[in-house]
Amino acid sequence: MSENPWWRDAVIYQVYLRSFADGNGDGMGDIAGIRSRLGYLRDLGVDAIWINPWYRSPQADAGYDVADYREIDPLFGTLEGAERLIEEAHGHGIKVIPDLVPNHTSDQHAWFREALAGGPGGVARERYVFRPGRGPDGDEPPNNWESVFGGRAWTRTTNPDGTPGEWYLHLFAPEQPDLNWAHPEVRAEFESILRFWFDRGVDGFRIDVAHGLIKDEELPDLVAPRGSGYRYPAGTHPHWDRDEVLEVYAGWRKVADSYPGERKFVAEAWTDSADRLARYVRAGALHTAFNFEFLQSPWRAAELRSVIDATLGNLGAVGAPATWVLSNHDVTRHPSRYGRPPTTWRPNEGYQRTGTPDLVLGTRRARAAALLMLALPGGAYVYQGEELGLPEVEDLPDSVLQDPTFVRSGGADRGRDGARVPIPWSGDAPPYGFSPDGASPWLPQPPTWASLSVAAETGDPDSMLELYRSALRLRRSHPALGDGTLTWSDAGPDVLSFTRDPGFACVLNLSDSPVELPPHQETLLTSAPLSGGRLPPDTAAWLRV
Ligand code: NOJ
Repeated sequence: MSENPWWRDAVIYQVYLRSFADGNGDGMGDIAGIRSRLGYLRDLGVDAIWINPWYRSPQADAGYDVADYREIDPLFGTLEGAERLIEEAHGHGIKVIPDLVPNHTSDQHAWFREALAGGPGGVARERYVFRPGRGPDGDEPPNNWESVFGGRAWTRTTNPDGTPGEWYLHLFAPEQPDLNWAHPEVRAEFESILRFWFDRGVDGFRIDVAHGLIKDEELPDLVAPRGSGYRYPAGTHPHWDRDEVLEVYAGWRKVADSYPGERKFVAEAWTDSADRLARYVRAGALHTAFNFEFLQSPWRAAELRSVIDATLGNLGAVGAPATWVLSNHDVTRHPSRYGRPPTTWRPNEGYQRTGTPDLVLGTRRARAAALLMLALPGGAYVYQGEELGLPEVEDLPDSVLQDPTFVRSGGADRGRDGARVPIPWSGDAPPYGFSPDGASPWLPQPPTWASLSVAAETGDPDSMLELYRSALRLRRSHPALGDGTLTWSDAGPDVLSFTRDPGFACVLNLSDSPVELPPHQETLLTSAPLSGGRLPPDTAAWLRV
């Protein structure tokens, strides 16, 4: 391994495949669309792209229900197209990280069909979690676990002879049966899938639900329902973040390390604390993990600083780099979060969309947050459209919503579609260059997005896009940025101020009034104009010191 592998401070752009660019005109983003926009990504200045699942899938959960891990879904293209994308991206200096979904398959996966067809007691069922029901007729689920998308986490099957049968576990939708990771064939199969894609040149994987693979074999009832606030002692939750899951990743790490070129993993692991997260990235485990504590932090100096310190402290202690994330396809886009109180977002609590967000305020904060994120030690993730300042689309009509959360919560949670609307590239009206020939995108775009398109923002010095481009350019060239450490400066309770060697300072004003900047030689970049040389509220500055 090299001293300073690329993944320690990479800026990774999340391509939400369905909504990035549509190459064939069916209203759905695809691999051809990504290939046609690689120049944009190169010019933006990102090091890698993470692509949401592209595998063959019935799309019950936007591709997170995989029917064949070695095939590309025809919606998105072909295996050959994926291979060409990998090659072309590499030609532009961009690495490619597909999404891998190991916690569950689709109910259309060959293994699950075989399991159902084989009936109770069949060995094919052992790859999943089948159990008889409780109660005299077996018509109550085996335990009280709940689906992340709402409702119970078990669905009853029908036996091949038509009688009511066993139940199977699905922590997500019923179309996503959980695999049994105690089964050696499951483990072997995923190592083989890793090799299949590493052989095709991918530079790593994003691991979906990395904290969920291992379940307590006894399948005990949960002691408290979701949302109750009860916290299990570390490592004792029956199905999240169990210690044994790291054995799986030790094997994966060996596979990755057997390939040249520093292949890397990033874990989607929702843990209760930064020290639990650090376990996933300690020596011999995975390389990196998304830092959701940062994403969930309220927009307040004390909380942000404590998340930053906990992250750097806990990950630094195991020699792993931090990652910084503001948005992704599962959470409310951050200009909308930051534009309403509370500014925080928590998983499994649904979307608290009270009132209308103040998008002027939210966008101002989003600009400052970008400069904070890109100045912190470690790597960063940029969710497509974040560089355009896209807000959450909160007025999608019920009839177009596709996220299973909406239906499974009985409409109480409107789900994640508002963060997934296809991004605008050019033009005055939908589809804003997303699809050729004016096809209708799979989710409707707001009529108000003309000024947020790539074309409209390009060359406008006040745009979010030019802010990201400038920040990424500076970050690449400045020796202080990327991997390393920071030193806090005392700047008052509502101001975050830190320096990085050599000669760099970042200051973020979270107070209500302008503050003086520390002594500096040059202002490198600000998220909003200074006022009389002072840093206004909700503004960040990068300084040469
Ligand atoms: C996390 C993914 O990011 C999300 O979109 C998906 O619904 C769940 N995992 C289930 O795979």
